[in-house]
Amino acid sequence: MRIVIQDNYDKMCLWAANYIADKINSHKEDRPFVLGLPTGSSPVGVYKELIRKNKAGEVSFANVVTFNMDEYVGLPHDHEQSYWYFMYDNLFNHLVDMKPENINIPDGMAEDPEAECARYEEKIASYGGIDLFMGGIGVDGHLAFNEPYTSLSSRTGVRALTTDTKIVNSRFFGNDPGKVPSTALSVGIGTVTDSREVLILISGHNKARALAATVEGGISQKWTCSALQMHNGAIIACDEEACGELTVDTYKYFLDIERGERL
Ligand code: GLP
Repeated sequence: MRIVIQDNYDKMCLWAANYIADKINSHKEDRPFVLGLPTGSSPVGVYKELIRKNKAGEVSFANVVTFNMDEYVGLPHDHEQSYWYFMYDNLFNHLVDMKPENINIPDGMAEDPEAECARYEEKIASYGGIDLFMGGIGVDGHLAFNEPYTSLSSRTGVRALTTDTKIVNSRFFGNDPGKVPSTALSVGIGTVTDSREVLILISGHNKARALAATVEGGISQKWTCSALQMHNGAIIACDEEACGELTVDTYKYFLDIERGERL
């Protein structure tokens, strides 16, 4: 696992956007670059920088296919808290060359949610899998909506949100957990870890326990993020604030590696 510690949120986002743009630009294969994407506050700065680069001609999305991680069940696309709305508002509407037919987001309004999840998983497979999956993380360590005790080999499916997650996410629903949908469609932990590379953004003091569990804890379905320990291409991009629960030695070790002082 590679841990990239940046001074603050803005620098973390800049680092991640540069990394993603470099990967897209160096993709020379005769097939699209397949990019997995999250919602939430963590990726907003990354999206801003990718939009800037795209408009400046520094990165093109013409040959990029995207798959989003998750979506609430029952929120129509034009609902401001649907992840569909979030993605168009924060990224897709602003890219100059993203092809609409290359955008994939699980349909939370599907009549048959299980069938929608199977279709989604098959569509990812039809592109030969995901090249780079960027993600965020919940305070309880969930990746996408894979809450504690979701199988670490899970595939795309319907998930029940924990009370904790409903409370945390209620900040977007007028601080009323009762207004947060109780279920969501989510790629599985297995879907994420099957990707060639995984880049997870972890920022802020409230994510410190989740970062420590991801890096230093045992592999456990209690912290679904810990499955990343089994992935050979996993990168955590984080900020100083999120490092508060790491041991000093762990923190220094990863800083030294990135500074080239241990190579
Ligand atoms: C939600 C999403 C996750 C996201 C998490 C963290 O629960 N389902 O995909 O990673 O929130 O969000 P934030 O980045 O706003 O802290």
